[in-house]
Amino acid sequence: MKNGGWLFVLALLAGGPLFAYGCSRGDEHAEDHMGKGDMEGQQEMMDGEHAGEMGEHDKMMGEHGEAMDEHGAAMEKQHESMRDLQEEWLKAKAAMSGGDTAGAAAAASEMEKSAAIQDEFMLHRNAGNKEEFQRQAMEFRRMVMGFRTYAEKGDVKSLREVAPRIDEACNSCHGTFR
Ligand code: HEC
Repeated sequence: MKNGGWLFVLALLAGGPLFAYGCSRGDEHAEDHMGKGDMEGQQEMMDGEHAGEMGEHDKMMGEHGEAMDEHGAAMEKQHESMRDLQEEWLKAKAAMSGGDTAGAAAAASEMEKSAAIQDEFMLHRNAGNKEEFQRQAMEFRRMVMGFRTYAEKGDVKSLREVAPRIDEACNSCHGTFR
């Protein structure tokens, strides 16, 4: 054997473990990659689930949107009933002042219609105090009915007594709930 041959053997002896080391490192790398592969697989699964969740989310948002529309519609109805109530109340008082008791009765009758939906009101201020709101709403309707009855009888003196109490009832309820 020439020197080169010994060097080859030495190289084999030294390189064997190195080679083996290299191989095991390679395996580790392979594992790393497999690990990554799994991770990617999981990521895809998660994306899949996530997409499902997003679908749910969109659905929920859609429902929420509908709920908001319903809420908006109910609120609009609520505002409108109050605006009608105000308009008719101004008419009723003007008719009363002019001695037009029939006009006052007609306006009061419209007020009763507008006030009828008050029980369904969605409260913002003092929403937890629904009982008190309903008590005031009922009392208010009772007064308006009284006003209409006096108007139908042509009892202007009683109308003049009741009118300021109705104004107070508007203000009292607004003071707490509007
Ligand atoms: C039992 C309670 C109650 C009584 C009585 C009441 N209101 Fe109201 N009113 C409310 C509440 C609550 C709001 C707020 C409604 C809202 O924002 O949804 C309101 C709002 C209003 C508004 C604003 C409407 C709008 O465009 O948002 C007007 C105008 C109004 N009321 C007029 C009157 C008049 C006039 C009377 C009396 C003749 C009266 N209200 C009696 C509870 C009441």
